[in-house]
Amino acid sequence: MNKFLSDPRFVGIEPFKSKVWLSSPTMHGEEQRWVDEAIQTNWVSTVGANIDAVEKQIAEYVGVRYAVGLSCGTAALHLATKLAGERLYGQAKPNMGTLAGHRVFCSDMTFDASINPVAYEDGEAVFIDTERDSWNMDPAALEKAFEIYPEVRLVVIAHLYGTPAKMEEIKRICHEHDALIVEDAAESLGAKYKLGDRWVETGTLGNYNCISFNGNKIITGSAGGLFLTDSKEDADKVRKWSTQSREAAPWYQHEEVGYNYRMSNIVAGIVRGQVPYLDEHIAQKKEIYERYKKGLSDLPVTVNPYDPNTTEPNFWLSCLLLNEDAMAPMVRGEQNVLYTHESGKSSPHEILDAISTFNAEGRPIWKPMHMQPIYRTHAFITVEGNGRGRSNAYIASSGVDVGADIFRRGLCLPSDNKMTVEEQDVVIEIVRRCFG
Ligand SMILES: Cc1ncc(COP(=O)(O)O)c(C=O)c1O
Repeated sequence: MNKFLSDPRFVGIEPFKSKVWLSSPTMHGEEQRWVDEAIQTNWVSTVGANIDAVEKQIAEYVGVRYAVGLSCGTAALHLATKLAGERLYGQAKPNMGTLAGHRVFCSDMTFDASINPVAYEDGEAVFIDTERDSWNMDPAALEKAFEIYPEVRLVVIAHLYGTPAKMEEIKRICHEHDALIVEDAAESLGAKYKLGDRWVETGTLGNYNCISFNGNKIITGSAGGLFLTDSKEDADKVRKWSTQSREAAPWYQHEEVGYNYRMSNIVAGIVRGQVPYLDEHIAQKKEIYERYKKGLSDLPVTVNPYDPNTTEPNFWLSCLLLNEDAMAPMVRGEQNVLYTHESGKSSPHEILDAISTFNAEGRPIWKPMHMQPIYRTHAFITVEGNGRGRSNAYIASSGVDVGADIFRRGLCLPSDNKMTVEEQDVVIEIVRRCFG
């Protein structure tokens, strides 16, 4: 690492005294009030006024009738996926998942929490390649997937880094194929999408919708998540499943498998104190994104894209994509990486290492699911059809793989909303000098 400190390209840059984070919690003081109130009133449990308040506030903000507070976004996604599985294929035996024997189309460029619930429910994830306009599921690849697997009835879709996917097209395709949508809006709370002529929030765009309050999200409870729906029946079912599936009997009576997934009233207290600041956080993140875009505009890079006509992201993370001809050699193994510098060029890992040397945190682009060792035997569908087994000893081209390309050439930049303009200017300067 110290090679950057002695590298003449970086002369004059001092490491940050306190670390500049990728995206860390931003507390405002009101969180303390609601946590204290919970403790003072002894509602230190998975029941209490903070949970009720958060469910009501976010349901109103997003524009759904019901929100159910859960321990994390992953729990919300699990129960959403299970609800979809039950609706499509019926109730499973206690030792079986609802998706056993069924394929599910999934976003490929996402965090694995989006799609782990497909495995929890014994389903088989089929990964759909990514488009370049928003870095989300490509509707054209989804069409191809339905040509290859017309029997599929469930699609799990995430909005990467807070930028909404092309939901108009995706919803139309799913409708045509009678498929349900689990929407993972964990990263995109507060992002807006133009559906027809109406602007709507992410978290309303699927049949079953989920958000996260993980510590790195746009607002946080240290943990926590919500299941969002307009269906009272679905909300009640999720509430029941999340509290060990208790029946209305005087003793512990169970007709279904249960989970301990309910949100804590302490966690909800933190979220409750954060909700009034959601719009402020989004505005700060947008300014960070705009400053990167401007500050890096003369380099051979672009920032993560979005279409302002149809989407207003929450700008959770700002990312860079290096132009192909500006990529210095970089080779990734399973757990390590090698790169060299070439004048006028750089690579994601050179930039990440340089940023880290000066005490700031970036991150590689989320490695696509179809490239993960755990899913290497699962199908991957691109705009060309089957994306597996395309390499050939006799033919040079091996086909498109947009996700692999963005992973190779991209990185996430420090996007913390407490980063000052001066600090961001230094981050921008470090990136610039990487291309020296
Ligand atoms: C896209 C995505 N889905 C799901 C999750 C899971 O949320 P949680 O950490 O609250 O379980 C996260 C983040 O953590 C995420 O980024």
